[in-house]
Amino acid sequence: MLRISDLSRHFGDRSILHGLCLDLDSGQYVAVVGESGAGKSTLLNLIAGLDAPDAGRIEIDGQLMFDRSGAVDRSMSEDERTRLRRARVGFVFQAFHILPHLTVAQNVELPLVLLGVAPAERKQRAQALLSEVGLGDRGGSPPRELSGGELQRVAVARALVHRPALVLADEPTGNLDPETADIVLSLLARTIKSIGACGILVTHSLHAAGTADRILQLHQGALRAAPERNAPLAVPAIG
Ligand SMILES: Nc1ncnc2c1ncn2[C@@H]1O[C@H](COP(=O)(O)OP(=O)(O)OP(=O)(O)O)[C@@H](O)[C@H]1O
Ligand SMILES: [Mg+2]
Repeated sequence: MLRISDLSRHFGDRSILHGLCLDLDSGQYVAVVGESGAGKSTLLNLIAGLDAPDAGRIEIDGQLMFDRSGAVDRSMSEDERTRLRRARVGFVFQAFHILPHLTVAQNVELPLVLLGVAPAERKQRAQALLSEVGLGDRGGSPPRELSGGELQRVAVARALVHRPALVLADEPTGNLDPETADIVLSLLARTIKSIGACGILVTHSLHAAGTADRILQLHQGALRAAPERNAPLAVPAIG
């Protein structure tokens, strides 16, 4: 479903990702951890086609989004990328990106509007997801009346409403209390399995990461298996 190879991205003279590879099949759900600034959001932006790599390949659902090597660029056009993203990708942004001039329900319906789904079905699917994240009675509200954690849940509902093939969630529980976080995490895991999507959960929380099938660490520009959770921590000597 998702095939990434030799992916590199630098900003100025700072190399953020280099030679990164990742293969995910449908139904596979991985968590990506890594220190702040490691490049986790950069990676998700590339997979969603919101940013372009300096080199490497990203293939989604058999479609080659990026294929760049040296001067040779066989990547798809920006328009094709936008169409692929709208149809196949659900993205929970770290900063939510809820549109302030639409109601909560209209925000959740937006991916379906862009795909031309009929209004009655749009409303019903948006309402079902808002109910799942505990916001069933807030659909008519303007986003400014919602708390940070409520907006985050709207963002999760919007990312799942069109049953995407690929779910990218950037710190989707960063603003939630533990109980609400668990509701959102289980909705993500359950939905990814039930629609046969593949999912990437970026998080700083080991508890959240534990809800995915496997944990990868983004370190020095590439992904590797995360250190065992019970591995002894290096304790600095005192004295
Ligand atoms: N458009 C940009 N221009 C310049 N530098 C950038 C840009 N986007 C990201 N960076 C830099 O790339 C590095 C990786 O950023 P990124 O947002 O991917 O980190 P992250 O792993 O998501 O961190 P966090 O856990 O804090 O969200 C950071 O040092 C950041 O400053
Ligand atoms: Mg980030």
